Amino acid sequence: MLVIMLVKLFAVNGDRVLSIRCCSVRKQERSSMKIQKRHVRLFHFARCHNVEILFKSRREASPPSAVTDPTPPSPPPAAAAVDSGLKVADLDAQRFRLHPSVAYWQNFKSYANTLFADTDMSLTDSVQQLVRQAADSAVLRDPHAATYWTYHSARLTFFVGQAVTGLLAHHLAETLPSNLPGFSSWLTSSTTSGLRSTSAQTSANITTGAGFKTPLERILSNAGQEMMTRVAEALAAFQQDYDNIRGGYYPLPWDMSPRHRQNNPLFMLVRTAQSVRESTATLRRRVRSQAEPVWLSSSLYPQYYTNTFHYQTDGWLSDRSARIYEHNTELLFFGRQDAMQRTSLIPISEYVREAELGGRGVSELRLLEVAAGTGRFHTFIKDAYPSLPSVISDLSPFYLARARENMRYWRDLRQPGRGLGGVDDTGVTQFLQTAAEDIDAADNQFDILVCVYLFHELPEAIRRRAASEFFRVLKPGGLLVVTDSVQLGDRPEWDKNLNLFGDFNEPYYRSYTSCDLGAMFEAAGFECDTKYLCSATKTLSFRKARE
Ligand SMILES: C[S@@+](CC[C@H](N)C(=O)[O-])C[C@H]1O[C@@H](n2cnc3c(N)ncnc32)[C@H](O)[C@@H]1O
Repeated sequence: MLVIMLVKLFAVNGDRVLSIRCCSVRKQERSSMKIQKRHVRLFHFARCHNVEILFKSRREASPPSAVTDPTPPSPPPAAAAVDSGLKVADLDAQRFRLHPSVAYWQNFKSYANTLFADTDMSLTDSVQQLVRQAADSAVLRDPHAATYWTYHSARLTFFVGQAVTGLLAHHLAETLPSNLPGFSSWLTSSTTSGLRSTSAQTSANITTGAGFKTPLERILSNAGQEMMTRVAEALAAFQQDYDNIRGGYYPLPWDMSPRHRQNNPLFMLVRTAQSVRESTATLRRRVRSQAEPVWLSSSLYPQYYTNTFHYQTDGWLSDRSARIYEHNTELLFFGRQDAMQRTSLIPISEYVREAELGGRGVSELRLLEVAAGTGRFHTFIKDAYPSLPSVISDLSPFYLARARENMRYWRDLRQPGRGLGGVDDTGVTQFLQTAAEDIDAADNQFDILVCVYLFHELPEAIRRRAASEFFRVLKPGGLLVVTDSVQLGDRPEWDKNLNLFGDFNEPYYRSYTSCDLGAMFEAAGFECDTKYLCSATKTLSFRKARE
């Protein structure tokens, strides 16, 4: 009989109660305690946090909490639900089990809005409270927590600094006289060919809303609030990431190693220079709403693909774009992108555990990542499961080349001398240049398929085709994990402005934010499983039924 372990976390201030469905195990294996190391960590975690562990039959009714493992009622037909004016989040609630993170982020009020609300609190009181919270959350007692938070505080500070530098550089490029030699021309050369001569002359025509000439001006008009809000989002995302690590879902991020090149000052300097140039170019196009055409004409790529998404230079089609992609998206998210994406590892870990308990080792499974980009997230998958054979796919050869380099770097740092097989001995069996909507693979090939940050960039019809392809290439009983931007209703506070991201040359974003993904994947044949949120990102897991 299957049992489900439910872990209840009672947080420090007592008002945050998280219930996490941790895993399914066969009863006989639980009783013989043939449970893996991660379960031991789980029990340790439970003890440290005064956490209650419940064993519960899967067939028993769900506990009363609205966020705890609700059995999804039968879903309404998609069209009727959309007609009734429900938001995507309401539709999700009817189709998916809701992980506790969903309620947490739906109710997440920006820390900035509440932090200074109590004006009676003195600075000393505030500091004492912060220290108490830090101590209670085990940062000072647990060396892993200390390492995690030290690294992530530094990461946050670094990317805040990068964002400010990029905004400042763009502001200077817009406001300095265009004939000023040196800096100004370096910033604008070769990045904004069509815009270079327009610098100071046309800056009066540029608007970023409410009469601001540059995004920096707009942000400075409300700097404290903007900064605090974003920092609070990042900290809460890190907290969730760390809770998942302590829960045994995945290991500490491998890139925290002090030996990692991203922690090398020279590497940082080079990336900073590249990033400043790219941010300047991107923002110049953004404030003018002027996308440049992609340099390469090719009938090999669909028309919607040859777009310079986010106004980035060369779209997906150059080494320059691939080289700076990770850095600049992390900058956009103040360093929390990795943490948000790692949520996708939770359903994977549950699936792997289930397979192991069913007698199939991780090396017998096969994973496909679709639209893997530069493969950064794939390194976290492989770090959790080095012996899991995997395939990395994308449509861009430039991004695939970067992914290959990333995988090699991960192998050299983390698995030296260990035979993993596949391409370059990284355990990646293939780098596959293929479209998500027409995957170059036979039917029923993969046990797990992961796809991160793709669907918001696809036209509606292509999304549906991709869903059918995912179904085709997955084996019966397989797991699909789709991670992407939050949609309408996921973060109610954001609904009013969510679609503004579409202005960032994201032509399909608006139709994405109201796309009923659950209905779409069901129409392709999938069964909806669980929904997770982490700040700006949502993760949906699906199953292909066993035959
Ligand atoms: C926003 S990036 C996300 C990359 C990566 N998953 C990540 O999260 O960092 C989108 C990626 O999807 C790829 N892509 C876009 N449309 C695609 C399609 N139809 N088929 C395959 N890949 C596609 C692009 O080349 C790009 O690498």
